[in-house]
Amino acid sequence: MVTVHVGGCSSFVKDAQYKQYVDKALEAFDELKGEEGAGNDFLGWKHLPSSVLCPAAAGVGRGFPVPAIPEGTLEACEAVRDDWKAKGVDLVVVIGIGGSYLGARCAVEALSRNFAGLRKDKSAPDVVFAGNNLSEEYVADLLDLCAERNTACVVISKSGTTTEPAVAFRLVKEFIEKNYKDAAERIIAITDAKKGALKTLATQEGYKTFVVPDNVGGRFSVLTPVGLLPIVLAGIDARAMLEGALEMEKALSERSESNPAVQYAAMRNLLYAELGKKVEVMVTYNPKLQYLGEWWKQLYGESEGKDGKGIFPASVNNTADLHSMGQFIQEGERILFETVINVKNATRSVVIGSDAQNLDQLNYLAGQHVEHCDAMAQLGTKLAHIDGGVPQLEVTVDKVDAFNLGGLFYFFEFACGVSAYLLGVNPFNQPGVEAYKKNMFALLGKPGYEELAARLKTRI
Ligand code: PA5
Repeated sequence: MVTVHVGGCSSFVKDAQYKQYVDKALEAFDELKGEEGAGNDFLGWKHLPSSVLCPAAAGVGRGFPVPAIPEGTLEACEAVRDDWKAKGVDLVVVIGIGGSYLGARCAVEALSRNFAGLRKDKSAPDVVFAGNNLSEEYVADLLDLCAERNTACVVISKSGTTTEPAVAFRLVKEFIEKNYKDAAERIIAITDAKKGALKTLATQEGYKTFVVPDNVGGRFSVLTPVGLLPIVLAGIDARAMLEGALEMEKALSERSESNPAVQYAAMRNLLYAELGKKVEVMVTYNPKLQYLGEWWKQLYGESEGKDGKGIFPASVNNTADLHSMGQFIQEGERILFETVINVKNATRSVVIGSDAQNLDQLNYLAGQHVEHCDAMAQLGTKLAHIDGGVPQLEVTVDKVDAFNLGGLFYFFEFACGVSAYLLGVNPFNQPGVEAYKKNMFALLGKPGYEELAARLKTRI
């Protein structure tokens, strides 16, 4: 279960102020729950866990809610996993960007063993990601890797026309076609049900496809096939993830001042609007959670950063970043607050030993778990940052596993809807991301962009 603690902000805000923002957050909660606010045609994610895991109880078949993904989707993902296992596939290239990438990457990083790619005892294929950059070196190295391995590919694009994944897919597709007779069976496309270049190509080539639901935006799509297929292929228990999300869906449906999504939305908006805290830093204390920060930054950055408003989402992964960004957070411009992901229990156990010489002077830690040192680093940092003027929000989970990650996904998605409505913006659009694309197309010489290209050339 995810809980939110606002105690690390109490020395910065008055109780009455917080209460006022909780009331605002409850109004925003009503807007999200009532499904009549801006962007309400993109709320399919809200009912995903219940409509997939317990359709009858969720009212599916009685008109509401309509499941955003078809019954049997998880089984279909598992069938791909088994099929590719039978072919001996040991490398899956997942191609996508933004919302078609970050959720899967976050789950694969969080729930795979550290150093998974380097281990000899593999129980699942290595899953690597592409199409999230335009680096020539990256794709060249990727193609070298594909040549050494038994390769298959999942290409994900809701629009089916995004340049970065399209370029990577053209190259990986060509490689697979040249090297495998059963090429079409080694490519899965996840895209729109009816339209787009990728849909057309998949139909023409006979690829198996999964659908990105119309009513789920990219950054809210981790619990659709966009996230579920790569997660299943990586050997992760997607069912447990959905169960964690389902528990969270139920917990957050209560209109209450103690609803953690309401508390989180209220406090972050208070800190932003009343104290000028314009940057929120997500702080994690486990290298596996680095991509939780990346996923969360997209979710909140694209959902709230518009109309000249929004908290800038940043992230650090401690304790590594205490030795880089720690200085700024402690003493730099006082525009920051932190949201710490507090994990109560490690899933592995390593105890620090005693050393006869004690040259490193660490014998005072002999018999302690490494996790104890981490917990003390976390507590010491919290107190130091409060002293330095950085309010501390805490989001606590029991451990890093599929169940709790599912809970975190749903928690941050729901809280994002509440928070953005409180801020007064539409959480579900992203008009700003088109600006760079138009310039890039013009500069690359894409037909139809000649006029813009001429205008840009006068500026360069
Ligand atoms: O959240 C979003 O909508 C975006 O980040 C998209 O996911 C991203 O631009 C990729 O789009 P597409 O899936 O259409 O290739």
